[in-house]
Amino acid sequence: MTHSPASSLRSQLLGWLFVATAVFGILALIDTYHEAIKTADTVSDRVLAGSALAIAERVVVNENGALEVDIPYVALEMLTSAAQDRVFYRVEGPPGHFITGYQALPTITDTKGQSTAYADATFRGEPIRVAVLQRSASTGVNSVPFAVTVAETTIARRQLTQAILLRSALRLGLMMAGAAAIVWIAVTLALRPLYRLSDAIAERNPSDLHPIDQAVPSEVQGLVDTVNSFMVRLQSALNSLRHFSGNASHQLRTPLAIIRTQLVLASRAPSLGAAQEAARKGDDAVAHAERILAQLLLMAKIDAAGSAEPHPVAAIDIATLAQTMTAEYVPVAAQAGIDLGFDGNGPAIVRAEPLLFGEMLRNLIENAIAYAGSGAEVTVMVFSEKHVVRLRVEDNGPGIQAERRAEVLQRFARGGHGNAPGMGLGLSIVEDIAALFGATLTLEEGTGGKGLCAVVTFPAAAADAGSG
Ligand SMILES: Nc1ncnc2c1ncn2[C@@H]1O[C@H](COP(=O)(O)OP(=O)(O)OP(=O)(O)O)[C@@H](O)[C@H]1O
Ligand SMILES: [Mg+2]
Repeated sequence: MTHSPASSLRSQLLGWLFVATAVFGILALIDTYHEAIKTADTVSDRVLAGSALAIAERVVVNENGALEVDIPYVALEMLTSAAQDRVFYRVEGPPGHFITGYQALPTITDTKGQSTAYADATFRGEPIRVAVLQRSASTGVNSVPFAVTVAETTIARRQLTQAILLRSALRLGLMMAGAAAIVWIAVTLALRPLYRLSDAIAERNPSDLHPIDQAVPSEVQGLVDTVNSFMVRLQSALNSLRHFSGNASHQLRTPLAIIRTQLVLASRAPSLGAAQEAARKGDDAVAHAERILAQLLLMAKIDAAGSAEPHPVAAIDIATLAQTMTAEYVPVAAQAGIDLGFDGNGPAIVRAEPLLFGEMLRNLIENAIAYAGSGAEVTVMVFSEKHVVRLRVEDNGPGIQAERRAEVLQRFARGGHGNAPGMGLGLSIVEDIAALFGATLTLEEGTGGKGLCAVVTFPAAAADAGSG
């Protein structure tokens, strides 16, 4: 199964970079915008105040005691020189006493105690900036208060702020593009070892499971280590599979050759008796091949069960199970001159799968019958102890020398009983099945130092486990 790549690292990095610079950039732009407006206002407010002052200086009190002003046009010119802006003014005496200028021009009535005040307003549908200067003209006897209002449309200011804003936005855009280019190059360079790694793996011979020794960034080293350890396990699994299939085919070849020979002999037999003898031998060989196949299939089944997800097995009473199986083997044992019996201390509950448990016990009983020798006694025992349940199959035959016990547990390892049919899988099957149930197999001496006792120790299932 191939997965579509979970989005590229490069686009993720670029995406994050874009979001981060966009957020910070927009914040910076907003700040710049406010700063630009403030700067433009301060500069032009100063000019507005200057012209208001120039006008105020021309306000005089005439001989009638009224206020009079002679507008100096230079005062207004210093404003209009700026842009297409239009300039308005208005001079008024004591509250409500309009003197000259644009009567409808908005002004600031409350200057909060300052002599000069500024405000934004609209006049004739256009946004304007208003400056008001409060003064008083002296008659020598008393002083007459007056206010000079000068206003200007805000085109120049807006142009200035827009220019500042545009420049900042351009700078931000350039910065983002530059950062994106740097990230693009950096990511490409950083990913280069990964591309080399993937090339190195792609170029490999499929059977080459040597560890990868490419230099990779430390972030990827963990992945490479995992792959390497996986390859080591794969290699050993492949080796044992090769070993296994080699042995298995070798084991099957012998009975097949016997069957063939016996068939030839039967077809050429001079008498019916000779033909029947050949057929009997051929039949034995078929039985042997059958057993080998059964053991191989069982082994494959255990391997599959061992590699699959462990699933919970039900708790069963293996004492009853073992007793029933032992009883089934009594006639076979008797035929081999063996006295087979069972002993136990009541129900023994463990978590195990009954069929596999049966295969395990079958292998142990068959070993005892096959190797203990005629006249021997074989006892199958199931005893519950405090935390464990022990299954023992004990005989008083020749046993296995202590130093050889570990060896006979290996797959295809056989003791010095070449004449008995078998291929050395039985005990390793028992051990593997035991492992599936969390149990362990040990080989010990029989009672009184005679014979062999195969012991499988199961963890006892919890009392409340039931038997469902
Ligand atoms: N009860 C026993 N007494 C003496 N030797 C035994 C006993 N059980 C097993 N062995 C020795 O251990 C060897 C391995 O046993 P195992 O059951 O693994 O293989 P096998 O019986 O030879 O073949 P298979 O069980 O696959 O048909 C046997 O060949 C035999 O030499
Ligand atoms: Mg065996």
